[in-house]
Amino acid sequence: MLSRGTVRVFPSVLELSKEAAREIKSLYDEAIASRGRFTLALSGGETPRTLYEILGGEYRDAIDWSRVHLYWGDERYVPADDTASNYRMARESLIDRIPIPPENVHPIPTSFANPEDAAKSYRDELARVIPLDLILLGLGDDGHTASLFPGPEFNCDDERLVIVTHSPKPPVIRISMTIRAINQARNVFFLVAGTEKSVVLRKVLETKDDPRYPASLIQPEALVWFVDRAASP
Ligand code: 6PG
Repeated sequence: MLSRGTVRVFPSVLELSKEAAREIKSLYDEAIASRGRFTLALSGGETPRTLYEILGGEYRDAIDWSRVHLYWGDERYVPADDTASNYRMARESLIDRIPIPPENVHPIPTSFANPEDAAKSYRDELARVIPLDLILLGLGDDGHTASLFPGPEFNCDDERLVIVTHSPKPPVIRISMTIRAINQARNVFFLVAGTEKSVVLRKVLETKDDPRYPASLIQPEALVWFVDRAASP
């Protein structure tokens, strides 16, 4: 069953992030009870930072991190210690603060000479573990999500799970899960905040399957939009 999802509006990013953390914990409980582990793909960008800090803070001891596996929906093709790295942001705000075994952290590789080899390597790793329990996503003001940008390169029917894409803003080279990979998740949460997102959010919620807005093609089994009042349509 594909859905356009549920939109939940909060007074601030902090309130949005606290509720998202509560919902993640309940999905974790459900996954552990039924499958013995919780597979979570993190989003990049800045909006999720507060959520990651909460998970690494008040939820540090409420979650058995040895049963959690972390993946990424996309990555900028830069070294892991680059300030633009999505992995670095998650490491600083979450991973360095929790007792998660290194083998449970599955960053998108960015050390291959050829980014296509990185995409292939992650495609193979993801194929072994999908469907993920939860994928976190952000929304760009051009309607992109993960690193799926509108434009001639975007192929909403791409059969592959992970591909190389090119961002209009640097870092240009990206590695991203595809629409197909994301829609296989049991749950997807969008985290959207800021007045600059209100116009595009309305467009995405009003359209369906519009390649001008890649986020409009995200139609998994269960979809929740966590939105702050500033971004609320
Ligand atoms: C990235 C993200 C990207 C991000 C949106 C929103 O690598 O930048 O995957 O899709 O989620 O651009 O970013 P903000 O949360 O910073 O607004």
